[in-house]
Amino acid sequence: MSTGDAVAARAPAKVNVHLAVGPLRADGFHELRTVYLAVSLFDTVTVRPGSGLSITVTGEGAGAASGADLVPTDRRNLVWRAAELLADSAGVPADAAIDIAKAIPAAAGLAGGSADAAAALVALDALWGTRAGLEDLLQLAARLGSDVPFSLVGGVALGAGRGEKLSPVLARTRSHWVLGIAGEGLSTPAVYGELDRLRAAGRVPGGEELAAEGPVIAALRSGPAAALAAALVNDLQAPALALRPELGRALRAAVDAGAAGVLVSGSGPTVAALAEDEQDAVRLAAELAGAGVFRTVRAVHGPVPGARLVG
Ligand code: C5P
Repeated sequence: MSTGDAVAARAPAKVNVHLAVGPLRADGFHELRTVYLAVSLFDTVTVRPGSGLSITVTGEGAGAASGADLVPTDRRNLVWRAAELLADSAGVPADAAIDIAKAIPAAAGLAGGSADAAAALVALDALWGTRAGLEDLLQLAARLGSDVPFSLVGGVALGAGRGEKLSPVLARTRSHWVLGIAGEGLSTPAVYGELDRLRAAGRVPGGEELAAEGPVIAALRSGPAAALAAALVNDLQAPALALRPELGRALRAAVDAGAAGVLVSGSGPTVAALAEDEQDAVRLAAELAGAGVFRTVRAVHGPVPGARLVG
């Protein structure tokens, strides 16, 4: 997709196959132990020489009727901040016309905004010739958001701290998923806040003891789907359900359709349904598309690489 002076990069969505959330820290973030899996749903960011910064958005969430899911085209977009941060750190002017082609739904718990920021860092680094190394880009990414470093590296990784401290996990076994996007987007801070309220009220465990990620990593390494299904953990599922009770119906629809395992992706409201294999994912996707509870249904697989130049 590189024509003339244009440079394009794409970055994947993620599913947290393990998301154990510790107590609220003094800085407003929660300490995490998470296992990220990058899946084959990609946003593409194309950058061209420009004067100052401008952003256009096409695809999912572009000019959506529902304001809640609308992807901003100004400095509220993480891509804008990514561009300013890279320009600032490299000492170059922040000049670029940026187009974001979205396939990843916004505010869905799939790290779509983080994917866009990671793709923008890679594309702008090439456009501006700033030659930042991966370590430099990872540091900038961590300042932009907890999930942005993972969007850069992709694959499978263990995330600690607020999610930004990554250790790669060697797990090449491919898993197949159907992502069902139900209803309007959920705000990540709202879901974390609801978890704190549920914990304060004693309605869910307090987060002092975090579930171990060993079982999910072992299952990602060697399968089968049933082992991965049994190991899935998401502490944000209860608060996402509390804020969005209809999500229960969406999770049940996936179980009824015969998914091997089901969980909410990140802070939701996407339902990630694990399939036995590629063929089963096609069947599951067709069934869930007809279930009448999802706005969008996508069959994906993981792991896939992180942000890369394309074209
Ligand atoms: O890092 P990011 O900008 O994606 O985080 C968005 C919000 O999600 C934070 O402001 C915080 O409210 C919540 N969050 C959290 N603990 C984390 C990551 C995010 O409480 N580890």
